[in-house]
Amino acid sequence: MLGLKLPTDPRWVNIVEKNIEEILTDHAFCEQKATSTAVSLIVSFPEYTELVQEMTALVKEEISHFKMVHDKILERGWTLGRDRKDDYVIQLVKFFPKGGSRTTQLVHRLLYAALIEARSCERFRLLSEELQDNELADFYRKLMVSEANHYTMFLGFARKYGNKKEVDAKWQQLLEYEAEIMKGLGKKETVHG
Ligand SMILES: [Fe+2]
Ligand SMILES: [Fe+2]
Repeated sequence: MLGLKLPTDPRWVNIVEKNIEEILTDHAFCEQKATSTAVSLIVSFPEYTELVQEMTALVKEEISHFKMVHDKILERGWTLGRDRKDDYVIQLVKFFPKGGSRTTQLVHRLLYAALIEARSCERFRLLSEELQDNELADFYRKLMVSEANHYTMFLGFARKYGNKKEVDAKWQQLLEYEAEIMKGLGKKETVHG
């Protein structure tokens, strides 16, 4: 349903389970970055009224996710650490050439956002199914649903604002590129690692 070409090896959850503090730290910053992305889309593309409306709602939702993760960190007696580098996103955003028309740039950013949401959703689903820690598994089940909706929304906007046929072709190419990146990942206790 998410279109991803390469599923995560479930053994990734065994790595995560050994370091819950690390995954929660990285996850908190994923939610912060999702919030920042929504703000940045408003700043860059103010004339896309429907997008601005939806991004405004998304800022609230993503920052509430940040708080949920932050609360989990505090409940467990930890303090939020520093941001972790997201190698997955760093590699992913190299795919489309820089520049092009404003619409092209918007479409590229929306497709990146859709894919990051889709992969996060897939990782959360795996955590919800495989984690021994029931409370945390439940937490990830709820978040999985939200991220699936975000994936649909970003992809929908890309198709609406761009040429649908071109956008669909770009989406397929991006999915293939992402699968190549994923071959080298699944070994770290981070959301996309
Ligand atoms: Fe989120
Ligand atoms: Fe999201």
